Amino acid sequence: MANKFYITTPIYYVNASPHIGHSYTCIAADSLARHYRQKLGENDVWFLTGSDEHGQKIQKAADEAKLSPQEFVDKVVMQFKGLWGKLDISNNDFIRTTEARHIKTVQKVLEILHEKGDIYQDKYEGWYCTPCETFWMELQLKDGKCPDCGRSVEKISETNYFFKLKKYQEWLVKYIKDNPNFIRPETRRNEVLSFLALNELADLCISRPSERLGWGIPLPFSPEHVTYVWFDALVNYISAVGSFDAKGKYSSPWWGPDVNILHLIGKDILRQHAIYWPIILHALDIELPKEMTIFAHGWWLIADAKMSKSKGNVVSPLAMVDKFGIDTYRYFLLRDVPFGMDGNFSEDAIIKRFNGDLANDLGNLVYRTLTMIEKYYQGNIPDININNIHAGRAKDIIEKMKLLPNKNGPLLCAGFDFNFGAVLENIWGLINSANKYVEETKPWNLAKENKTEELKQFIRLLVEVIREVAGAITPFMPRTAESIKEQLGSDKIKKGAPLFPRIDAKKSNA
Ligand code: ME8
Ligand code: MG
Repeated sequence: MANKFYITTPIYYVNASPHIGHSYTCIAADSLARHYRQKLGENDVWFLTGSDEHGQKIQKAADEAKLSPQEFVDKVVMQFKGLWGKLDISNNDFIRTTEARHIKTVQKVLEILHEKGDIYQDKYEGWYCTPCETFWMELQLKDGKCPDCGRSVEKISETNYFFKLKKYQEWLVKYIKDNPNFIRPETRRNEVLSFLALNELADLCISRPSERLGWGIPLPFSPEHVTYVWFDALVNYISAVGSFDAKGKYSSPWWGPDVNILHLIGKDILRQHAIYWPIILHALDIELPKEMTIFAHGWWLIADAKMSKSKGNVVSPLAMVDKFGIDTYRYFLLRDVPFGMDGNFSEDAIIKRFNGDLANDLGNLVYRTLTMIEKYYQGNIPDININNIHAGRAKDIIEKMKLLPNKNGPLLCAGFDFNFGAVLENIWGLINSANKYVEETKPWNLAKENKTEELKQFIRLLVEVIREVAGAITPFMPRTAESIKEQLGSDKIKKGAPLFPRIDAKKSNA
C-alpha cells in the first residue's frame, strides 16, 4: 500500500453557482482525505480541488453578464470557494486554470507533445456542442442534436491541431485490463472497455482558432489558436502539484510509485478521464502509479432528471445547509445512495434520515447517556474498568466496538469502491446495539435496586461506545464528532442541547 494519498475532484466550470452535484464530489473527497489523514498522517495526504475557467461556455456566460471573462470568473469562483469553506471541505489547494502556474504547465505539455510529433495540424469539419464543450462527427449526432445532452450543435470547419489519441488505443486497453482498479466501479470499467473494443478512437482536436474563441490558453507553437478547454482542464491534476524540468521530465511529491492517486469524478466526465487523461500522461512519459484510480460516482437526480446548471433544475447546497445543518447534509449525501449509483434528491428523504438515523439513533444515544451521567453521578463519568464484562448484549457491543476499525478500514479503498454506505451502516450497527442495550438493561431499575457496580459498568460502556462512534464518524461529520467529544469531556461531562432535535415534517414543508 502506497504511503501517500493524492485525491482530486473535477475542477468545476465557474459559469454559474455551485449546486448539490458539485458539493457531493467535494464532500466525498473530503471524507476520504480526512480518513486517509487519520490513517497515513496529516502530511501524507494532498487534497486538490479547483475551477475550470476557460472555454466557450465561460465566455458565453461572461458575455451574458456583460463582464470580461476574467472579471466574471473572479466573481463566480468566490461562490465555490465560499461554499467549500462552509461545508468544511479540507482541500490543501485550489487550482484555477487562469493561474500562471497552470498556464505555464499546459503550454509546456503542448510543446513537449508537439515536438514529439503527437500533435499535428489538420482541417477540422464537424459539429460542436457548447454546453458539453465536445466535438461530434456528423454520424454521431442523434437527429441532428448532441448525442449526450440532446441540445443543438453548431457546424464548425477550420484549421486546428490534433492530439494522436488513436496511436495509443492499444496501449490504453492493455493498461486498463492489467489494472483492475484503474477505473471503478466495475460497471464504468466495463463501459470504457467495451467502448474501446467497439470504436476506433479519433484523434482529439485540441485547439480553437482565437478569432472564434479568444478565452483560452494560446498554443505556444501557434498563437492564432487557443487550447481546447478539456485538454487545458485535465492538466490541472499535474500543474497544481509539480513541474517539468528543461528536459521535459515531470516531477512532483504527489506523483510516483509511493503515491495512491484518486481522481474522483461524476460519470458524466468518465470518457475524458478514462481515455484522454491516461493517454496524455503516457504520451508525456509520466508513469501511472500502480495505485491510481479514476472513480466515477452517479448522479443526483431531481424527479428522475439529472440536475445541471444548464438544465436549470438545480438545488442550492447553501439552502439545504441552512435548513438542515452541515453534517446532516454531508451524512445524507454519503449514506442515502450507494456510492457509484444515481439517486433522487428530496427534502423528504433528508428529513427521514434526520429523524431516524440522526435524531432517534445517534442523537438519542448521546443525550440519554449524558442525562444519566448527570442524574446518577452529578456529571462525573464513572471510573471503572469494563474489560471484565462477560454478559450478553454488553459483550456483543464490546466485540463490535473492537472490530469496527478493521471492518471499516478496507471499505474506503478502490477495491471496495469507497463504500461510504457500508461504513456508516457498520457505525450505526454499533449505535443501535447500544440503544437496545439501554432499553433492555432498564438502568432506572438498576438504580432502584442499588446495583451500583452494574450501573457504573453499564454507563461506562455507553461512554466508550460514544467515544468510538465519535472517532469513527469524524471523517464524514467532523463537526458532530467534535461536539460529541466536547460534551463528553474526559471525566466531567458538559451536556449541551440535543445534537439533532427532531424535525416536524409537516411544519418544515409548510
Ligand atoms: O465537467 N450529480 O465541470 P462541471 C452528481 N469542468 N454529481 C454532479 C452532478 C449531479 N447531478 N452535477 C455535477 C466539468 N456533478 C469540467 C471538469 S475536470 C478536469 C474538468 C459533479 O462544472 C460531478 O463531479 O460540469 C461532475 O463530474 C462534475 O460535478 C461536473 O462539473
Ligand atoms: Mg457538466
